[in-house]
Amino acid sequence: MINSTPSNSGSTRKTPPTIIVIFGASGDLTARKLAPAIFNLSKDGLLPQRCFLIGYGRSVISNGEFKNDIKKALDLHSRRKIEDSSWNALEKNIFFHAGAYDDIGRFSALKEKISKIEEQMECKAQCLFYVSTPPGVFMPILENLGESGLAKRHKGTETASKVIIEKPFGRDLSTAHELNLVINRRFDESQVFRIDHYLGKETVQSLLVQRFANSIFEPVWNRNYVSSVQITVSEDLGVGSRGGYYDRSGALRDMIQNHVMQLLALTAMEPPSSLDPESIRDEKVKALKALKPLVIEGYNPEVIRASYAAGLVDGLPAKAYLKEDGIPPDSVTETYAALKLYLDNWRWKGVPFYLRSGKRLAMKASEIVVQFTRPPAILFGQDSRFKVSPNLLVIRIQPNEGITMFLNSKTPGLETKLQPIKLAFGYETTFGSNTPEAYERLILDALNGDGTLFIRGDEAETSWGLLSPVLECWESKGKDGLDSYASGTWGPLAADKLLLNSGHEWITGKTYE
Ligand code: BG6
Repeated sequence: MINSTPSNSGSTRKTPPTIIVIFGASGDLTARKLAPAIFNLSKDGLLPQRCFLIGYGRSVISNGEFKNDIKKALDLHSRRKIEDSSWNALEKNIFFHAGAYDDIGRFSALKEKISKIEEQMECKAQCLFYVSTPPGVFMPILENLGESGLAKRHKGTETASKVIIEKPFGRDLSTAHELNLVINRRFDESQVFRIDHYLGKETVQSLLVQRFANSIFEPVWNRNYVSSVQITVSEDLGVGSRGGYYDRSGALRDMIQNHVMQLLALTAMEPPSSLDPESIRDEKVKALKALKPLVIEGYNPEVIRASYAAGLVDGLPAKAYLKEDGIPPDSVTETYAALKLYLDNWRWKGVPFYLRSGKRLAMKASEIVVQFTRPPAILFGQDSRFKVSPNLLVIRIQPNEGITMFLNSKTPGLETKLQPIKLAFGYETTFGSNTPEAYERLILDALNGDGTLFIRGDEAETSWGLLSPVLECWESKGKDGLDSYASGTWGPLAADKLLLNSGHEWITGKTYE
C-alpha cells in the first residue's frame, strides 16, 4: 500500500476478523520473519481484535509445543521486546494443525477447525493462507485449498479468502506458468498475493515517491542525461544452513529474477496514471517487457556467473561454496550473477542497466546507482588538472538507508581543484530507527486486500521469460563458463570488465563509509 496509512491506524478501512494459516509453520521463514511480523502488527494494534494463527506443518507437534517455538522465535527475532501482556494476548489464539500438504483429508479437517473458530467468534472471518513451504509443494497446497473449498470461502464478500505465495515463484518460465494456471483455476487474481519482500522495504516503497513526488528527477531520468544504472544486491553471508534449497536455486533464481528485477522495474517504469495497484503493476510489466533478450549463444561476457571460493570475510576465514553443508562437491550452482541489460524503449534506449547479486561478497549492501552523463568538456573538462566526476544519485536500500547525490565542488584554497561532494539524506537520522519490517507491511497489505506491493502473475512470467533461456544455457554448459571469486571480495574480475568495457565502474562499495 502506497497511498494510505495502515488500515486500522487512520484510514477508514477496517480489517475484518482474520484467521492466518501458515503452511510451513515449522520452517525458518516463519521463525525469523512471519511470526515476528504478526507479533509486531498485533503490538501496534494493526491486526483485527479477533485474529487467530494456525500453523500447518508436517511435524506432529502439540499446540503447546508450537506456541513455545513461536515464543522462542519472537525472543530471538522480533525487532521489539515481547512483554508478557502482548504475548498473552496473542498466545491464546495460536494453534497447530499437523498434516501432509497433499492430504486432502487434513485440509478438510482444517476447514472444520476454521469453522469452529468462526462459531467461537460468532462472526465470519477472512482466512489468509500463507504458503511458506519449499516451492516443491506449492502446487498440492494450492490445489487442496481449492479442492477443500477453503479457497472459495465467503467468495465475493469482504471476508473472502486470500493467499500469499512465497518466492521463488517457479523455477523457470514454464513452472511459473503452470503455477499461474493452477492459481487462476482455484482463485481470483484479487485473492492472490505473490510476495517479494523487497517491495515491503521502506526504501523500495520510497523510490516511487522520490521519482514521482519531486519534479527535479523526471526531466533527467532518461537516456539524454543518464549514462548507466547499476543495481547491486550483495550479501556478505554464505549459504549457511540453506544449502539444500540454495543449490537447487542459485543467485539468478534466488535474487535476480525477483528482488533485483523489481528494483529495475521501479527504477525504469513510466509514471503510472494513478496509485492504484493495477496502474503501478501495468507500468512495471511494460518496463520488464521492454528488456532486450540476452544473447546466450557462445560466451557472452555480459552474462556472468561465478561461485565463491575460500577467502576472508571480516578478517575471518570463510570456506568455499563447494565445502558448505549440503552442497555436492561437483555443484555448478552460481552464488554470483551479473548482467548487462538494455531496455528497448524511448526513455532508456542505449542506457546500460548493470545488475549484480551474490553471496559472500565484501559487504551486505542493496543499492541503486544512477550515473549521469558528464557535463560538456568546455570549462573544467578540458583541463587535466580538473577531474570532473560524473554526478551520481545513490539510492541506498540497505543498510544505512538513504539517498546520496554526488556533485562536483571546488575544494577550499587558492588553487582551483575539484572534488566530488555528497548531499546526503539518511532515513535513520531524519526519521529515527525501528521502522517496520518488510513482512509487517506486506502481511498487513494482504490482509486488507491491497496488491500494490505484490507481484502480478504476468510480471513474474515476464521476468522469467528473460532469464529462463540464460538458466537453460547455463545448465547445458555445466561447469564451462562458471567463474569463481574469493569470499569477501566484490566478485569475479569479469564483472569489473563488464563495466570497464563501456567506461563505467561499479560504484557500490566505494560510496559506503
Ligand atoms: C531471500 C533470499 O529472498 O532474500 C536469500 O532467498 C537472501 O538468499 C535474502 O539472503 C536477502 O534478503 P535481505 O532482506 O536480507 O536483503
